[in-house]
Amino acid sequence: MKAEKQFERLVIAAYRLPFRFVRSKSGVKTLQNSGGLVSAILALSESFKHKNSGSNDHKILWAGIIDNLPENYTDAESQNEHFDMVPVKISPKLNSLFYEGFCNNLIWPLFHYFSSYSVFNNSYFRAYEDVNSIFCEELVRHLKPGDFIWIHDYQLLLLPAMIREKMPDVTIGFFLHIPFPSYEVFRLLPRNWRESIVLGLLGADLVGFHTHDYTQHFIKSVKRTTGYECRQNIIVTPDRAVKADAFPIGIDYDKFHNASGNKSVVAAKQKYQKCLPGQKLIFSLDRLDYSKGLLSRLKGYETFLEKYPEWRLKVVFNMVVVPSRDSIENYKEMKKEIESTVGRINGKYSTLSWRPVIYQYKSLSFNDLVALYDLSDVGLITPLRDGMNLVAKEYIACQKDNKGVLILSEMAGAASELSEAIIINPADHVEIADAIYTALEMKTDEKQVRVSRMQNRIADYNVFTWAFDFFNQTYEIKKQQDLMGVKFINETITAQMVADYKKANRRILFLDYDGTVVPFAKYPELATIDDKTLNIIKGLTDDPKNHIVIISGRGKDFLEKQFKKSAVTLIAEHGYFIKKAGREWESTFHTDDQWKEAVMPIMTDYVNRCNGTFIEEKAASIAWHYRNADSDFAQLRLHELRDDLAEIIRHKTDFEILEGNKVLEVKSSKYNKGLSAATLITDEYYGFILAAGDDNTDEFLFQALPDFVYSIRIGLSPSFARYNLPDTSQLLQLLEALVK
Ligand code: UDP
Ligand code: G6P
Repeated sequence: MKAEKQFERLVIAAYRLPFRFVRSKSGVKTLQNSGGLVSAILALSESFKHKNSGSNDHKILWAGIIDNLPENYTDAESQNEHFDMVPVKISPKLNSLFYEGFCNNLIWPLFHYFSSYSVFNNSYFRAYEDVNSIFCEELVRHLKPGDFIWIHDYQLLLLPAMIREKMPDVTIGFFLHIPFPSYEVFRLLPRNWRESIVLGLLGADLVGFHTHDYTQHFIKSVKRTTGYECRQNIIVTPDRAVKADAFPIGIDYDKFHNASGNKSVVAAKQKYQKCLPGQKLIFSLDRLDYSKGLLSRLKGYETFLEKYPEWRLKVVFNMVVVPSRDSIENYKEMKKEIESTVGRINGKYSTLSWRPVIYQYKSLSFNDLVALYDLSDVGLITPLRDGMNLVAKEYIACQKDNKGVLILSEMAGAASELSEAIIINPADHVEIADAIYTALEMKTDEKQVRVSRMQNRIADYNVFTWAFDFFNQTYEIKKQQDLMGVKFINETITAQMVADYKKANRRILFLDYDGTVVPFAKYPELATIDDKTLNIIKGLTDDPKNHIVIISGRGKDFLEKQFKKSAVTLIAEHGYFIKKAGREWESTFHTDDQWKEAVMPIMTDYVNRCNGTFIEEKAASIAWHYRNADSDFAQLRLHELRDDLAEIIRHKTDFEILEGNKVLEVKSSKYNKGLSAATLITDEYYGFILAAGDDNTDEFLFQALPDFVYSIRIGLSPSFARYNLPDTSQLLQLLEALVK
């Protein structure tokens, strides 16, 4: 992997700035904020600085929210050797609705599967939209061409689309540091919140998650919320391709691994050793959070003391809890409960000279942290849910003589990379107790094998590999977008089209119906044409030089109803029927209906086997629609149905299975849109030809027409058409431009 920066400047957008400002007598002091996100980006910034020593272009612009900027704060204080910081100022009241409300009373619990803790409140959502929008306004003022904008975490889910709207060509990556829940949990959000979140994230070029599972959950939520197609993790939105993928975050391995020899770390270790004469040390470190499984861990340790009394007096559990979100009710209550549980365990088992639990509610300095990681015999990390858990990786990196044993929850993202840890179910107290016993009794050889395997893995995919992998993948998807974008109709092409249109004495325009002049609806009969579109078509048909053809797979009665007052030619059922303006329907094809008797029962069977699908029977074809079904399940059924139908029509050489947009149709192969169009353009000479369509059935049309034709595929899919347009509304704008 190429570990080079491909951009001019890295811009980080996150809720937290890397430092918080603290007022003191001598001015404003900055203190590092805690959490996995800050740890990771700080490591990255140090490496940029190292590579560019002496110059300033390593500096990262970091925007974050602040609701209590000190009065004597000056802009100079928002800069240091690594960062130019952009404090996004919001009022404490708004921040409370946003941070305590939507972020930590709804998204955090819901995405960590604590749905019963989730509070659904409209004022929270409004505050969330407001804060994301204020963030966008402030950040955009500081952006420059060539910036790589990297947005982080669940506080800023709407920001990618907001920035994209203001700066369509900018490069945006988004990384989620917490789990993305399964669709069944995600759908608990009200529909419009869900849509805003999904569309917000799709403003990015690349959306990253810690694990493959979270990525798949997100893709499923996108498909179910928007109906967009996704192929090999690439989501095709109306105007861009967006990639979703897994990037398990790493740590600055060397920094942790090499730190234990530092003088101050050695001094810290000696200090701790003195307090633990002949005792084994179990260590845990987490932010105060119900997702971290702190109570269940304490109960597991209590069960261990109960079940293995021979270990009493010989072991100490040092549980460090870093203060976090203690203004939120759930957190406050949990803190009290932890303290009373610790009190109870210590009350039950302590002796004059031994306390089984040493509980500390505080932050640790880097030196103390490394000393404790290194010194402890067991790292006990048992979250009930955790996006990744960096502490687990840091613990392994600090095992200098490979003597520590990691006990890790299967619910942490880190468990898939740290499979040589003792993996436990964090809710099972007995399993935790047994794991502690196994860890304490483990032979040195086994400990070494386990630790060194894990060390190799996390040394390899460290925080730098993680970040550069993310950057590289973002540029890859940008390249793909460029390749697709070449075919988009721009102003120059529009101008040329208008000029050719004006020049021509006779013109013919072939317009598909669904997804081309009319957007998709839940059911085909609901996709009716509106007056605005009919007016545009009238503008076209009023010009005697124009021949407007609506060319569709729809049945003739539906089309006739939509265009009863329009002077258009109608082609129905892919060319089976044709009706010129003011004339009757005609068809030169004849099929008997016997084949339907074989096909209909099979399709009916698939309607029963796949909820949300339905059949449309036309004069000469039968279609199975699956736009309202679960898209993954429908894909599965689609393959089966295709096979079953292929078997039925095997001997009928003049029949075909046609796949359109969320529809599979059986029809005669004697006609298609291309053949019908070809007949019309041989009847008369047309100096200007335009053909627009949105699905595979329109590819017959694009292929059958001469090269000079302005052929346009609606949507981003690869096509025989010369051009693409993102959606129906853009095509209507183009038609309006021709009329004008
Ligand atoms: N950490 C910290 N201050 C402390 C103790 C720990 O900043 O007093 C760091 C720790 O080293 C780790 C991060 O906070 O890098 C915690 O990340 P993790 O992924 O384990 O959990 P999160 O807090 O993100 O849920
Ligand atoms: C986790 C989240 C971060 C958050 C951090 C600290 O690491 O993923 O987005 O900043 O916890 O939580 P806090 O509520 O103090 O920002």
